[in-house]
Amino acid sequence: MILKHLYMETFGCQMNVNDSERIVSLLADKGYAANSDPRHADIILLNTCSVRGGAEEKVYKRIENLRHLKKHRKNLIIGVGGCVAQHEGDTLLEKFPCIDLVFGTHNLHLLPDMVEAAEKGLRRSETAFIDNDQRLDLFPAVRKGSRVSRFVTVMQGCDNFCSYCIVPFVRGREISRRSDEILSEVGILASEGVKEVVLLGQNVNSYGINTADLPSFAQLIRQIADIEDIKRIRFTTSHPKDMSDELIDCFSTIPKLCSQIQLPAQSGSNAVLTLMNRGYTRERYLERIVALKSARPGIMVTGDMIVGFPGETEADFEQTLALIEEVRYADLYSFVYSPRPGTKAAEMTEEISREQKQERLERLLKIQRRITLEINRSFTGSIQTVLVEGPGKHPGQMSGRADNGKTVNFTGNPGLISHLVDVRIVAAYQNSLMGELMKTTPV
Ligand code: SAH
Ligand code: SF4
Ligand code: F3S
Repeated sequence: MILKHLYMETFGCQMNVNDSERIVSLLADKGYAANSDPRHADIILLNTCSVRGGAEEKVYKRIENLRHLKKHRKNLIIGVGGCVAQHEGDTLLEKFPCIDLVFGTHNLHLLPDMVEAAEKGLRRSETAFIDNDQRLDLFPAVRKGSRVSRFVTVMQGCDNFCSYCIVPFVRGREISRRSDEILSEVGILASEGVKEVVLLGQNVNSYGINTADLPSFAQLIRQIADIEDIKRIRFTTSHPKDMSDELIDCFSTIPKLCSQIQLPAQSGSNAVLTLMNRGYTRERYLERIVALKSARPGIMVTGDMIVGFPGETEADFEQTLALIEEVRYADLYSFVYSPRPGTKAAEMTEEISREQKQERLERLLKIQRRITLEINRSFTGSIQTVLVEGPGKHPGQMSGRADNGKTVNFTGNPGLISHLVDVRIVAAYQNSLMGELMKTTPV
């Protein structure tokens, strides 16, 4: 078989990264080898994100950019998938004659057929939602990045309809993957030498809630923890309203569960949380944080925050800043509100200007940067157990993550990759810690 080349570009969140890995696996079976240069590709696929206006614009710019490659390569196939494709469907084919195929977030399994059609000159768009769990069964055979830590999809979609968010519209209803499928994937990964799994979904802590015969998310974590060669478990993302006592208890009773949780608040103001349709109050959120911190002292909390939501007053915003100080996030992903077509919030009137939103974001970032650095510095002198993932930034350095999720660089050799080693922290920076390998290190 003549080897053809696939160039895959991924935008957006880990769901897309994971989907892209599935796509690469699927098309490898059709004779397409992934490469890293669009100029030498027979097929170019963009896996897109539409969570904010800026993310979507980036995709359109990229399509414009790639269009020119077709002038020289008449047989080049260009396909667009992911969340922008799901939202726009056929209109992408109409707007961009250079696009040969459009596939939605539930249609990855159709890609081999669609590519075959495109090779014959047929343009197709497939964006129907398929709301059963079968489509989650295909898991990636080819994965990028570290071989030590891997993402494993446990659920897809979202039923929450936060008023600002396009995700439920582009990912469809929440579906949990069967636990036997998840366990068999994790088992395979363990046999390939993977030491850490990160359980992935828009809302992992509602895993199994609306499906009979599935374990709860806490039970699923326990089952994964029973797989001996898996040494660490993380998960992302959780929704505060579904943060059960049972799940919080896992942090006291399952040592393999790492001391880190991503629990986005989105705002610190009850008025804004109500408008956002988040389903919890500031008080309940803080109560969950206290429970987590007492279940696992030292747990690192990370989160997401939106500034400039319609109706957010200066007082509301100050409540967000106060919440940040109270929680003391290890890290925070913060965004300026961006209206998304079709969402409830897009119909609300926006009173604050782009400049004001930006100014609020800057104030927030300044506070968060200080807190992150303070937290990082508090680790100086401590001993952290690091799962070594690969080379660090500088020659002679290795890099990995502490149990609490912090990146640690230290002088060491590649033989340490995939081992758990003890490292004494000697310096702390904004985004990482620097350490020295201890003489006696557990394996
Ligand atoms: N399911 C996850 C993440 C969803 S999208 C969760 O609920 O936490 C990732 C982040 O993008 C969200 O947490 C939110 O902070 C941000 N986001 C989503 N829609 C947005 C919008 N319209 N404008 C600005 N930020 C948005
Ligand atoms: Fe979007 Fe809310 Fe669902 Fe997260 S929980 S994906 S923010 S609708
Ligand atoms: Fe973006 Fe879709 Fe993820 S909109 S954030 S790629 S679910």
